Amino acid sequence: VERVFSGVQPTGNLHLGNYLGAIVNFVKMQETHNCIYCVVDMHAITQGVDVWGGPVELARNTREVTAAFIASGIDPSKHIVFNQSQVSGHAELAWIFNCVARMGWLGRMTQFKEKAGKDRENASVGLFDYPVLMAADILLYRATHVPVGEDQKQHLELSRDIAQKFNNDFAESIRNLGANDGLFFPLPEPLITGPATRVMSLRDGTKKMSKSDASDNSRINLTDDADTIAQKVRKAKTDPEPLPTEEKGLEARPEADNLVGIFAALSGRSKADVLRDFGGGQFSSFKNALVDLCVTKLAPIAGEMKRLVADPGHIDAILNDGADRARAIADETMTLSKDIVGFIRRR
Ligand code: TYM
Repeated sequence: VERVFSGVQPTGNLHLGNYLGAIVNFVKMQETHNCIYCVVDMHAITQGVDVWGGPVELARNTREVTAAFIASGIDPSKHIVFNQSQVSGHAELAWIFNCVARMGWLGRMTQFKEKAGKDRENASVGLFDYPVLMAADILLYRATHVPVGEDQKQHLELSRDIAQKFNNDFAESIRNLGANDGLFFPLPEPLITGPATRVMSLRDGTKKMSKSDASDNSRINLTDDADTIAQKVRKAKTDPEPLPTEEKGLEARPEADNLVGIFAALSGRSKADVLRDFGGGQFSSFKNALVDLCVTKLAPIAGEMKRLVADPGHIDAILNDGADRARAIADETMTLSKDIVGFIRRR
């Protein structure tokens, strides 16, 4: 069976990149797959407390991401929405995978290098281990498809390597237990689709739109009001040329490419299609249309998020229920994984 899993970190400031690169696709996948969407609070604490904000912020952000999922159209009664730390299997499977993954594999992860910066000796062990926990997230549910933005591609490749090495290392044990003929874990496939798999900063078309950018003008947050969105779009960096009439005219024009990609993704059209309407015109009128589109699409989500976070008890009940259903699947994988490794079961 095909199963979808994906996660979002509760580290504050969910932005248009998270929405278009990931959440929009989460919503779509619900029509065709069984989906599990996780607020990865254990990943959120891998950087310094100055980054994740401390216990009060973490809980607040966990509820806010949950609210964003639901406000965007994820249905927690038909699919599973929960926070990672409520299901102990994530940490348990990550430990087994720690002993499968190699230091060299993790040392090549570009996101670790970026986030650790120059002071690598001072990075947490958890930050280095981050992609192993991510592999555990996915494989705990033996998920086959993982919708993510472009920046997670390398992590997904590592997940596949871990699944494959586990299957190989324990092939005999897996066969002896009759657990899927030597292939216990599926090799999860990344789904990186749509015209906005890598949304760029509004201030610099060569930098990714990110929660951690010091300038709030670099991103549109899901909770920004209409005036803020208008200001940010109008201030967005552009170049002096009019918009091209064809998609190949966007090459070497990162800012134009980014804004057209955002427009396309928000309106559910292709970039070529958007350029048929706006190609040859000035940025100012295109930006006005983009402001309207952003506000039309995002304002209802922001409103619904606000309504939802006002009732934390309701959100916590959704997370509890999701965790119960996630645990039922996770426990099965853990029981089998422990048997495969040779850990004696509790009687
Ligand atoms: P996170 O929380 O950084 O981002 C959540 C999702 O948003 C996507 N994204 C973007 N997409 C397009 N343009 C951007 N500028 C942009 N910025 C972020 C990310 O690709 C991601 O899909 N490691 C993951 C969380 C995670 C996970 C998992 C994902 C933990 N376990 C298991 C999938 C499966 C992360 O850091 O996401």
